[in-house]
Amino acid sequence: MSEPLWLVVPAAGRGRRMGADRPKQYLDLAGRPLMVHTLARLHAAFPGARLVLCLDVADADFDPAWVPFAHWRRVAGGAERVDSVANALAAIVDTASDDELVLVHDVARPCVTVDDLRRLHERLADDPVGGLLAAPVADTMKRDDGTGRVAATESRDGLWHALTPQGFRYGLLRRALAAARTRGVVVTDEASAVEALGLAPCLVAGRRDNLKITHPEDLALAERILAAQRAEAPSAGNPTAKETP
Ligand code: C5P
Repeated sequence: MSEPLWLVVPAAGRGRRMGADRPKQYLDLAGRPLMVHTLARLHAAFPGARLVLCLDVADADFDPAWVPFAHWRRVAGGAERVDSVANALAAIVDTASDDELVLVHDVARPCVTVDDLRRLHERLADDPVGGLLAAPVADTMKRDDGTGRVAATESRDGLWHALTPQGFRYGLLRRALAAARTRGVVVTDEASAVEALGLAPCLVAGRRDNLKITHPEDLALAERILAAQRAEAPSAGNPTAKETP
């Protein structure tokens, strides 16, 4: 790797929509905690990267043995995802340079492929703004009227699902998140904070199976996706079950 790469993994959510007894990053996925899969994919793509892992201060489930990176640190999560990411960036202020790339990846996306990770990284190497993995919207989009009925059909032309990782230079990302906080702009991903500065992040087409585990049925789906991806390997470069810790 030619220049230092930072990985920020927000993993401080409670995942209440899963209705489980533990946060979703600790639920079993193909015999291992979900978090182990996500970290293994990131490590397979970027073994020399430095990881900042955001965890709830009261987290009692985390095991440091699951982290395959040589350089990593744990930081306290915040009230919202954006606060967790901001904490991660603040924690490395003395180590990170403004021009170093930071990829932010949700722990809840264990099916991201090594190919997509490397492609995004390559695409962002010379990009002046940064960007994100994204997938074009395939379904017809409906807007509800608040009572469970259709108010309108929205055009899906030019609409994309924002996935992660999302990657920006350290200085720009810190500035963007700070500005969003000051101006009270609600941001649910890094790109929207950068957009609020008037910049246009690039959309890097990624695989549709980069699923975010959100609802209980997503776990079984993710298990099938991982199995299908392993059958595609080694071309996809994804670690096999045996290669994960
Ligand atoms: O809940 P949701 O799936 O939208 O969260 C996206 C990601 O942000 C997850 O990886 C979750 O752990 C993380 N998160 C966080 N801090 C919060 C809320 C969510 O790190 N306060």
